[in-house]
Amino acid sequence: MTVHIGAAPGQIAETVLLPGDPYRARWAAETFLQDVELVNEVRGMLGFTGTWKGNRVTIHGSGMGMPSLSIYANELIRDYGAKTLIRIGSCGGMQEKVKIRDVILAMSASSISTPSAGIFKELNFAPCADYGLLAAAHAAATAKGTPVHAGGIYSADVFYDERPDLNEQMTRHGILGVEMEAAELYNLAHRYGCRALAILTVSDHLQTGEALPSQDREKSFGDMVEIALEAAFA
Ligand code: HPA
Repeated sequence: MTVHIGAAPGQIAETVLLPGDPYRARWAAETFLQDVELVNEVRGMLGFTGTWKGNRVTIHGSGMGMPSLSIYANELIRDYGAKTLIRIGSCGGMQEKVKIRDVILAMSASSISTPSAGIFKELNFAPCADYGLLAAAHAAATAKGTPVHAGGIYSADVFYDERPDLNEQMTRHGILGVEMEAAELYNLAHRYGCRALAILTVSDHLQTGEALPSQDREKSFGDMVEIALEAAFA
């Protein structure tokens, strides 16, 4: 048991999927895993451990934003021995070629700041994904026929962004989408020698203003969970 996770030692698997929303964690565990047990519900942040094709997996909410994800990822890695962490979340599309429902694999994550900024000081550390997970996720998405893009994303500190000029520069420099967690997940994975990847469904689009209809969200989320599981155990 840690400050924010009530699981007993051994109740967390080495492979952890991290949706932002704890209810998504429950849905994914009940839909895709066998022998599921609830392992955390401290502060309503639900975590479940079960098996997928005989492999142990934990699906645990990260909350929204890097400070929240940092708490859970730190404790999962340092106290419970998590080795492979895959964020499954949504993002806003930032390129014309990126369409609603497409999947983005974040090769790298730019940011203005992260909870690790104090360590890096003047260094612009470039957090990037684990290549093996990225390649396996790309193959899994392609095999499913899911349109998939791999490239840089932006991990923002705010959802209600007041810097349209910065978004323009990122679009100009090929950033595929914006979300709020991946950069710190990658920082922590580098620090502790873990594997990490962020798999993102495009839920809204900054240029077109389009948004994924709510009835389509479950199917898109489910595709992402399957891609994550296949990549984790490829
Ligand atoms: N901004 C930040 N995070 C997001 C967005 C967005 O537009 N869409 C989904 N997650």
